[in-house]
Amino acid sequence: ERGEYRHYMQKEIFEQPRAVADTLEARISPNGVLPNIFGVGGDELLAKVKGLHIIACGTSYHAGLVAKYWIEEYARLPVNVEVASEYRYREAVVPDGTLFVAISQSGETADTLAAMRESRRRGYLGTLAICNVPESSVVREADLKLMTRAGPEIGVASTKAFTTQLAALGLLTLQLAHQRGLDGARYADLTAQLLHMPSMIEKALELEPRIIELSERLIHRQHALFLGRGAQHPVAMEGALKLKEISYIHAEAYAAGELKHGPLALVDEDMPVIAVAPNGPLLDKLKSNLQEVRARGGELLVFADGEASMDGNASRGVILRMDGGGDFIAPAVFTVPMQLLAYHVAVLRGTDVDQPRNLAKSVTVE
Ligand code: F6R
Repeated sequence: ERGEYRHYMQKEIFEQPRAVADTLEARISPNGVLPNIFGVGGDELLAKVKGLHIIACGTSYHAGLVAKYWIEEYARLPVNVEVASEYRYREAVVPDGTLFVAISQSGETADTLAAMRESRRRGYLGTLAICNVPESSVVREADLKLMTRAGPEIGVASTKAFTTQLAALGLLTLQLAHQRGLDGARYADLTAQLLHMPSMIEKALELEPRIIELSERLIHRQHALFLGRGAQHPVAMEGALKLKEISYIHAEAYAAGELKHGPLALVDEDMPVIAVAPNGPLLDKLKSNLQEVRARGGELLVFADGEASMDGNASRGVILRMDGGGDFIAPAVFTVPMQLLAYHVAVLRGTDVDQPRNLAKSVTVE
């Protein structure tokens, strides 16, 4: 039931605090991740992992890309992330001790399922499914599982499935990092951040009125560029995917450092640039990337972490401040304004938000 909401997508965006809280429920306490949340023998198997291959499609692939930044930084394990439709048809090298991880909302995506079946032949330590549908094929066929508890997602564009996947991948990151001797104080800090993910998402949702105003700036555009750095690069990719899926505006995402290696040629007064700019060591780098956009007359929409000092005199553009909730969970929190922006641009353009043309909710054919 949509209730007070205009579309399922909007309802599902606003369900995220609840969905993420449910995904964390009885799996983590202020002391850290609880034992064996990945199934029987899960912690023992995870203790043996020397690296991970994460396979998924679309939005679920973007969740995997965020997890690569997390797991490599905190657990110091090598992570490859690949779209299932590529992985299944090539001869990937599988070093000893590699865990295969499939991420899928539906658990029935044809390429993801086929990749998981193919992985059986490739000599993995084991398989882990991160999935939203307990009775799905991907879950049935995996050794270990961690269910996201998003509840049914009706809108074709994935929203709460993504943030709950990030919550689940956050738990996986913490477990792997703890087992590999992450500093106790840092583990406690990351645990506290993850526990705050629902309330930080709740706060980000309060930006909706401002984002409705911003959406006006995009409705007559043909193209948009999304920029991010580090773990926010996949967030930019997810923002671009949402916008193109439901508003049919052509959008592309770049790691901000790649701007001058090509896409800068596209930037003029008709090219809006949307940037996710959290606090941290990459902020100064991102600011100089944005300066390059500004110098070419491109319109900038910047989502900046509250504490980040940004140049407030954007000649054409807006800086919207928000609280990312800390370096660990910021990608999940910054996703929310990306979803709201895409949603409201699409509503203003009058597209069929919940059922975008040419797309199906579950891609069970190749
Ligand atoms: C985008 C979207 C798709 C799915 C993709 C994978 O909004 O919904 O890109 O993320 O088709 O689906 P699952 O996660 O069910 O395997």
